[in-house]
Amino acid sequence: MKILALSGSTREESFNSRLLDIAVAGARSAGAEVTVVDLKNYDLPLFNQDFEYHEGAPEAVIQLKDLMIEHQGLLIASPEYNGFPSPLLKNALDWVSRQQNDHEPPMFAYKGKIAAVMAASPGAGGGSRGLTVLRILLQNLGVMALPGQITLGRASQAFREDGRLHDDQLQRAAESLGADLYDVLLQQSTKLD
Ligand SMILES: Cc1cc2nc3c(=O)[nH]c(=O)nc-3n(C[C@H](O)[C@H](O)[C@H](O)COP(=O)(O)O)c2cc1C
Repeated sequence: MKILALSGSTREESFNSRLLDIAVAGARSAGAEVTVVDLKNYDLPLFNQDFEYHEGAPEAVIQLKDLMIEHQGLLIASPEYNGFPSPLLKNALDWVSRQQNDHEPPMFAYKGKIAAVMAASPGAGGGSRGLTVLRILLQNLGVMALPGQITLGRASQAFREDGRLHDDQLQRAAESLGADLYDVLLQQSTKLD
């Protein structure tokens, strides 16, 4: 059972990427194999159907899609921009949703995926509105999202120098989110056996 971890921010000091790191550590402690994707390393043009028609999917899309197919779980942290998940994340998820040929079923890369979501923001809301929208998007992609989530408000004051959270309870909750995802994936795989 492998987990793909995606941050919707490529900002150097991204709060979301730092929060994601905690959940990734939790999943790894529980035994999961986790691949952390830095979207900075994927040259994804803004999705444009004419571009896709004439040029096909760029190599970076194929690579990201292959990664998606190889993993069963998704850990996603996304900034909230005006109440929505980041365009960077949405664009990546849109590209990966595209069929590469007529034989490929729609949403093939997302088939059977289970996700856990989180958000961090310097504001008090912690990005919770963005997660509501992200959940709708995941549902439309056929991805099941776990009911639990982490929203980290006042994120500019939340992290210690070592990357952990000052709030021990939240630190444990973020680690648990990663571990819980791995548990659910294991249960799912046992049922399928
Ligand atoms: C265009 C834009 C819109 C934003 N809208 C929101 C918002 O709706 N809610 C919120 O809590 N923060 C909002 N923010 C602030 C982000 O939460 C903040 O920039 C955060 O640091 C981004 O996440 P990151 O640290 O992972 O890069 C917005 C920022 C930008 C640039």
